[in-house]
Amino acid sequence: MEKLIIKNGTVVSDTECVKADVLINGEQIEAVTAGISEKETLERESVQVIDATGMLVFPGAVDAHTHMDLDVGYDRSCDTFYSGTVAAACGGTTTIIDHMAFGPEGSYPRHQAEEYHRLADGEAVIDYSFHGVLWDRADKRTLSEMRELSEDEGITSFKLYLTYDRMLHDRDAFAVLASAKKDNILIAVHCENDGIVSFYRELFPREGKLSARYHALSRPPEAEAEAVNRMLYMARCAGEAPLYIVHLSSEAGLREILNARSRGQKHFAAETCPQYLLLDEALYEDPVNGLKAVMSPPVRKKADREALWQALSEHTIDTVATDHCPFTFGRQKRRGLEDFRRCPNGAPGVEERFLLMYSEGIRRGLSLCELTEYLCTAPARIFGLYPKKGIIRPGSDADILIFDPGKSTVLTRDKLHGNADYTCYEGLKVSGFIDTVLRRGRVIVKNGEFLGKKGEGRFLKRGISSLC
Ligand code: URP
Ligand code: ZN
Ligand code: ZN
Repeated sequence: MEKLIIKNGTVVSDTECVKADVLINGEQIEAVTAGISEKETLERESVQVIDATGMLVFPGAVDAHTHMDLDVGYDRSCDTFYSGTVAAACGGTTTIIDHMAFGPEGSYPRHQAEEYHRLADGEAVIDYSFHGVLWDRADKRTLSEMRELSEDEGITSFKLYLTYDRMLHDRDAFAVLASAKKDNILIAVHCENDGIVSFYRELFPREGKLSARYHALSRPPEAEAEAVNRMLYMARCAGEAPLYIVHLSSEAGLREILNARSRGQKHFAAETCPQYLLLDEALYEDPVNGLKAVMSPPVRKKADREALWQALSEHTIDTVATDHCPFTFGRQKRRGLEDFRRCPNGAPGVEERFLLMYSEGIRRGLSLCELTEYLCTAPARIFGLYPKKGIIRPGSDADILIFDPGKSTVLTRDKLHGNADYTCYEGLKVSGFIDTVLRRGRVIVKNGEFLGKKGEGRFLKRGISSLC
């Protein structure tokens, strides 16, 4: 087995930053301690050394919310598992957990699990897993396939939607929560009140209000808050079923999280995304470029942004994922020019996440440990991947991001690796630079260049969530 030492860096975890060397043996970390370099280099000839002087050595980041190759019925997100994971790797992410698309009418969760293996196996360049998905109904077969996929395939989290055409109604959502509680499965939820959203999506076009800003106005923060509150109470009523609120976007929604925490509810977590921390609704005033930020939920007011940053500083939000769901502006998003409802929902972000969060997070006073918690360790824990992923410690996979805090990066589309033809952060100067990325002991990114190979990523059978 080839050995490798990352020497003289500052190794960061969710609890401490230590000057140490990291010894990697094959695909795993063997030791993390000061002074390995001298000892090992003297004893072994075949050891490879990476000098990380002045660098931060983070665990490879875990993105628990992506949509590669997502079939939305009338369109498909533009990153395959290959292009999307190359982009992820170049952004310092070494594990993704991708959300499956809804299946054909009359099909069941196992159908989508098989479909996703067809899409991802032999394509992904970093390790990956899938969240199962529930749509249309939660009958007996749906619930038993959910349990089987969790037990047999390690697909230990499932997502349901409270809006969109294939949403679950409350009775079925509650049946899912009750089953999940019994079977130790984590339920991720897209929280928006469908009644409010559907009403506005019918009203605005009748009034000739068809530009991008009406996408945002049709999905108000109260619609998110109501659905967050409803799911939290339903989970509580199901005996504290484990619940994960995805892409929290608003201060109103956050208040419902705080309410649940203050009434003592424990088995839940909330995720937000860089777009809700860095962008705001002013973007929608441009009816053309505003389409680039058409996503659900939409980006909000500056006050919402501030509230979400505050929540990160107080640890009332648990993770930051991307909801990477890219469509090209030229061929796909522009279709919404005449009618916002024709613009496919979602935006790219898998490559930008770590840099954005490092740069803006540190500027706003988050510590390196907090960043590691939100971007690496907490998602690994919550989704049953810890301590294999999300931490640099003996026995863990050698997924490592060597980060240069002394440099800066300007985010521009031409430097990114995904298939989208734009980034929402074009021209933004961020502090820090992704120097080197290792996946299970192999250098797969160096100075912005991808050095890995198609299909080298492995499917991860996940364990039970820390929220169960
Ligand atoms: O607009 C978004 N976020 N599209 C992806 C699907 C979802 O709701 O997460
Ligand atoms: Zn969603
Ligand atoms: Zn999503």
